[in-house]
Formats: sequence, structure tokens, C-alpha cells
Amino acid sequence: LKDPARPPVVWLHLVECTGCTEALLRTSHPDVASLILDLISLEYHETLMAAAGHQAEENLERALEKYSGKLICVVEGGVSLKDKGIYCKISGHTTLELLKKVAKHSSMVIAYGTCASFGGVAAASPNPTGVVGVSDVVKDKPLINVPGCPPNGYNLLATIAYILTFNKLPEVDYLKRPKFAYGRKIHDHCERRPHFDEGRFVEQFGDEGHKKGYCLYKVGCKGPVTYANCPVIRFCDAGVWPVSAGHGCIGCTEPDCWDTMIPFYEH
Ligand code: SF4
Ligand code: SF4
Ligand code: F3S
Repeated sequence: LKDPARPPVVWLHLVECTGCTEALLRTSHPDVASLILDLISLEYHETLMAAAGHQAEENLERALEKYSGKLICVVEGGVSLKDKGIYCKISGHTTLELLKKVAKHSSMVIAYGTCASFGGVAAASPNPTGVVGVSDVVKDKPLINVPGCPPNGYNLLATIAYILTFNKLPEVDYLKRPKFAYGRKIHDHCERRPHFDEGRFVEQFGDEGHKKGYCLYKVGCKGPVTYANCPVIRFCDAGVWPVSAGHGCIGCTEPDCWDTMIPFYEH
């Protein structure tokens, strides 16, 4: 996969918490060093870049000029629209201005995380700063959503590997999510599924059924209505994912999960 002409990437942090970057930093095959030194050319990333202040802004401007039309724009975070976007500014520019500017010079856009894909937690009702997902702003570029809160870093790496290999975006579902990662429900691959099928449920957190690893449906698990590969790919190379750790899925890869999937806990 090593490409002598590593594709230039600009990574924007908009209305977000940086958890998506933190998730990516915990991947190990390839690790982030291999990703940014061998596979892509990371031109701008506020968390990872050494430059700061004016120097960082100059890096961005230089990348936009040098690689115009060839950039891959990765976005972490949603876009604030209310009151002309004044509630989130980076280097004096609103998230809307920044996204439009970088997208204009990009060949494709990857919305990484549920905030970038659908607005995320900042867009939860009553959405006080008018946050939307990237696809509500960028309409004229190939775009893919890799949601999750945080998303699984391997789903981003696999998306990038696909782009490097085939020079196009992978096949997506109706929410622009790659089908290879979001084509099946959590419930389809969950290791607690035999308990669901046999009617063995946790009735209350901490009860005997919980200790025995029974199904979490009755205490709020949204695995039956959530599309993602968490039970298969798991997190942080530790082999764990929310349900294996004893917590129900909250549907974090679905749009508006903060409004539509509540209550997260049922007793
Ligand atoms: Fe943070 Fe979740 Fe938004 Fe990522 S999707 S920036 S982890 S709130
Ligand atoms: Fe389905 Fe959730 Fe039960 Fe797993 S724990 S079988 S995802 S309802
Ligand atoms: Fe999110 Fe559910 Fe996976 S909460 S991390 S989609 S198990």
C-alpha cells in the first residue's frame, strides 16, 4: 500500500471533543506513525502537528495552494451554523468558513465520527448552536461518513486503505457509511446473542444475569437497531467493546442517537 506519492491530507477539528483523534491514536496495525509517515502526507492536524499559531495557519494555506484539487479532507466535528457560526471559531474563522475553504480544494471528504457525520452530541436537542453534519454543508464533493462516538480508528484506516488501493471511495449505505463496516447490525454479531435468543436477560445492572454475561436488551441495549461492526473489530486491540464490557450499545453510529436512542438505561 505504500504510495510513493502519498496523498496529502488536511484534518479539520470543528465542533468536537477530539475523542475521534484519540481513538485513532490507539490503533496499532498500522500505527499512527506508519499512517502519517508511510501512507499519507498529513499537512495539517491541530492535535498532531508540531506547528502552532501563525505557523500552523501558514502550513494550511501552503497545503491548500500546493495540493489544490488533490487533498483528502478529513473532518472531525460538526459545523455550527447558528448566528453565522460565531459559537466556534479557529484562528478567527468559523467552522463553516474553514470547512468551505478546505473542501473547495479537496478531491474528497471523510467525515470521521458522529459529530462530523451527523452533528453528534452538540446537535442534540435543542441544538443551541445550530450544529449540522459535514454532508449538510459540502454537497459538491465525494463524501463518506465514518460515524461512532468515538468511531473505531480501524474503520477510518480501512477506508483510507481502500482509497489508496482503488482511488475511489468504498461502497456506502443510505447514510453514506461504508458498507464493509456498517452493513450489519450490532445485534447480528453480538456474543450475547445466544442469550437473547434463549430469553436470558440482565434485568438490572449488577444482578446474577449481568455477572453471567446475559443479554443487555432489557437494560437498554440498542444493538438491534444499530449498524456497526463493533463486535467484530472491537476497540484498542484489547478485544473489548461496550457490550463485552457489560454496557449496552447506545447506538452511537446512528444519526441523532442522543435524541432517538434515549433512554440509554432501562430498569
Ligand atoms: Fe468526540 Fe464523539 Fe464527536 Fe468524536 S464523535 S468528536 S468522540 S463527541
Ligand atoms: Fe443484541 Fe444487545 Fe443483547 Fe447483544 S446485548 S444480543 S446486541 S440486545
Ligand atoms: Fe457505539 Fe454501540 Fe459500538 S454504542 S461503539 S455502536 S457498541
